[in-house]
Amino acid sequence: MQTKVIQVNPENINKSSLLPAAEKLKEGGVVAFPTETVYGLGAVYNRENALKEVFTVKGRPADNPLILHIWDQRQLADIVLEINPRYQLLMDAFWPGPLTLVFPKKPDISPLVTAGLETVAVRMPSHPVGRQLLELTGLPVAAPSANLSGSPSPTLAEHVISDFDGKIPYVIDSGPCSAGIESTVLTLTTDQPIILRPGSITREMLEKVLGEPVYLTKPGEIDRPQAPGMKYRHYAPKAPVILVEGKNDKVVEKINQLIGEKPTSQKVIILSSTENKDRYCRGIVMDIGPQTQLEITAALIYQSLRECDKLQADLVLIEGVSDEGLGAAIQNRLRKAAGGNVIDVT
Ligand code: TXA
Ligand code: MG
Repeated sequence: MQTKVIQVNPENINKSSLLPAAEKLKEGGVVAFPTETVYGLGAVYNRENALKEVFTVKGRPADNPLILHIWDQRQLADIVLEINPRYQLLMDAFWPGPLTLVFPKKPDISPLVTAGLETVAVRMPSHPVGRQLLELTGLPVAAPSANLSGSPSPTLAEHVISDFDGKIPYVIDSGPCSAGIESTVLTLTTDQPIILRPGSITREMLEKVLGEPVYLTKPGEIDRPQAPGMKYRHYAPKAPVILVEGKNDKVVEKINQLIGEKPTSQKVIILSSTENKDRYCRGIVMDIGPQTQLEITAALIYQSLRECDKLQADLVLIEGVSDEGLGAAIQNRLRKAAGGNVIDVT
């Protein structure tokens, strides 16, 4: 199969250029498209073969459910059982945008979408090109991030192409994704609201709108992870990754020590804050943004992890960020990329 790349400028959308991709989705094909978080690998929600194809091409475990993407709240009537006032408050505040809500599902939703759960995750992206494609398609579109399972999520069309060239018919290229990390996943199907995956809609933002405490699941806190995807090692470059977190000066000192322990023939890459980027004794330093502007770090993080593979790193050392606000989501991804190799130098 030849993969066609359709360039669509988000500031001046040429609707007709999206028609072949919308047709392909309706016929039961798989299409990669931009959202404000990361690129998604879309299939119409009731097309069993297309849904299966999504799992196959990604190499995604069957027990990891998909998020349905809609462009209009009226589409919820076909997929969810009930919308209580708490959902409505959050939708009014954050949709369209990077918040996924877990609802009780309508019985006829394909188990391929929900991985057999009684709930379904739904979000309304804010990316104008993603939204236009959803509107032209007219049906909810199931879409995981458009990366091979386990590799860093795609924030540029070239990331999608590098994972799926020749395996899917269309990639819509609208340049970089602005948020850069996947949506916040929140469930209200439990007694208390629980964030199953942190993202750029932070706990503080959700609490403000709901007027009640919102909880964050920590790995291992619940027996069966409720966002099943969170139990897999994710987002990782091929080289071993060590995340060093704690007091700033101690982090720099520890990373310099780890660099010193590696033979000089080995390629070490350091993901550093702008503030610290000139403080490392050796290695390739990638600037992942100032400590005070974590939205820049969020937008750069997956791209930087992919860059480590391109440069054939032997070891990747990453400075941790603050756990506050958006930092919670970034730290969540970094800890996963490190697969448990975390050094705390508080
Ligand atoms: O920003 C995003 O959410 C991106 C873009 C493409 O929209 N999509 C994305 O999808 O990150 P994916 O498949 O990579 O991650 C979906 C996450 C997984 O952790 C999955 O387990 C969780 O959402 N999830 C899906 N349905 C769920 C459900 N019914 N209950 C709990 N968690 C669910
Ligand atoms: Mg993913």
